[in-house]
Amino acid sequence: MRSISLDYTHSFIEDYELENIKEYVNIAHNMLHDKKGPGSEYTGWVNYPKEFDIDEYERVKLASEKIRKNSEVFIVIGIGGSYLGARACIEALNHNFYNMLTSEKRNGPEIYFVGNNVSSSYILELLELIDGKDISINTISKSGTTTEPAIAFRIFKEYIEEKYGKEEAKNRIYITTDSEKGALKELASKEGYETFTVPDDIGGRYSILTSVGLLPIAVSGLNIDEIMNGAKDGMEEYGVLDLDKNYSYQYAAIRNVLYRKGKEIEMLTSYEPSLFYLQEWWKQLFGESEGKDLKGIYPSSASFTTDLHSLGQLIQDGRRNIFETVINIEEPKVDMILKEDKENLDGLNFLSGKTIDFVNKKAFEGTLMAHTSGGVPNIILNIEKMNEYNFGKLIYFFEKSCAISGYLLGVNPFNQPGVEEYKKNMFKLLGKPGY
Ligand code: PA5
Repeated sequence: MRSISLDYTHSFIEDYELENIKEYVNIAHNMLHDKKGPGSEYTGWVNYPKEFDIDEYERVKLASEKIRKNSEVFIVIGIGGSYLGARACIEALNHNFYNMLTSEKRNGPEIYFVGNNVSSSYILELLELIDGKDISINTISKSGTTTEPAIAFRIFKEYIEEKYGKEEAKNRIYITTDSEKGALKELASKEGYETFTVPDDIGGRYSILTSVGLLPIAVSGLNIDEIMNGAKDGMEEYGVLDLDKNYSYQYAAIRNVLYRKGKEIEMLTSYEPSLFYLQEWWKQLFGESEGKDLKGIYPSSASFTTDLHSLGQLIQDGRRNIFETVINIEEPKVDMILKEDKENLDGLNFLSGKTIDFVNKKAFEGTLMAHTSGGVPNIILNIEKMNEYNFGKLIYFFEKSCAISGYLLGVNPFNQPGVEEYKKNMFKLLGKPGY
């Protein structure tokens, strides 16, 4: 039994449809593995779980231990692929109220993300929140020139230098950036900050398993060895050139068939609110990889049951252009049995003896029945348990399917010309020299 499995029996896709696309999936696989497809210079993530730089990996562990010892607060500065993966992992695997726990219970620093917007109140209120606490910061930017993290870094660098003095600040500032170029690299070398690299051949949205994601994840106390083990097994399992056996390729193929049938919106849903940022990470991965050349499935997300009370109506009865992919966590982290109530004023005694997760699963089954009866294809991704191992494997599952899906669509899944366009315009409007 595999710890992650795909069930497409509710997707309205017949086996012959998958059979028809098999040949194209094989071509996409070869393009990716032989580095013959567009964007092949950014496919370093394909073999990364087995070929990563072990020295840098050990430095990540050492730095994370140091930060866990000397900091009450850890600030992660980055945007897009430079923060979504770390946040996705930290929120999916830690306590739902991690930052609000007592320090004994949390057993690690509070972790906040900044530099992913340009809101003055967000930045200033964060500074207010952390005042008086010992902090370290990790600025992450592959290009080293992105405006949002650059502004936040300037502010937090000044804060940390004023608080500790320039020398001690060096012990508390960590930079993750390109190995050679960019303003951040230059600054880090000049100031002598500990620096980690974003590999040249891995783009931002595929970088979670590098130091980009691993340093913040390790600081939160999670076991990064297990994450990499899961990714390594994912690399094996999702490297098999056989559509009948490879769930990652099945997911890519089904999405493609559905897209060609007019399903232009995919909604990634989950019944665990802690997966909110995993859904955000997935949106960036698929949105930036596929949304180009006037093509692409619009990736959206919903958190159930919460959003069944807002978006449920539209999914059930609106235009038939949506399909859903449900992340179903089979075993919750913790659970609780509902007790009998003497008065039974709410009439819920019929549930006594059942667990909360039992109710959650019935909500999932009921929603699946409703939405499929409304003609909405559902793909189900069953995950035995959300732990470090399965998280690493799931990341690789999505990355691999996204690359195959992009090639099936006929786009370069590794560039992001649209994002660059906005960045350039913003520089121009702000009066940056040279733009
Ligand atoms: O996937 C990408 O490459 C982008 O979304 C980047 O992650 C994002 O724009 C941040 O860029 P940088 O890491 O260069 O600051």
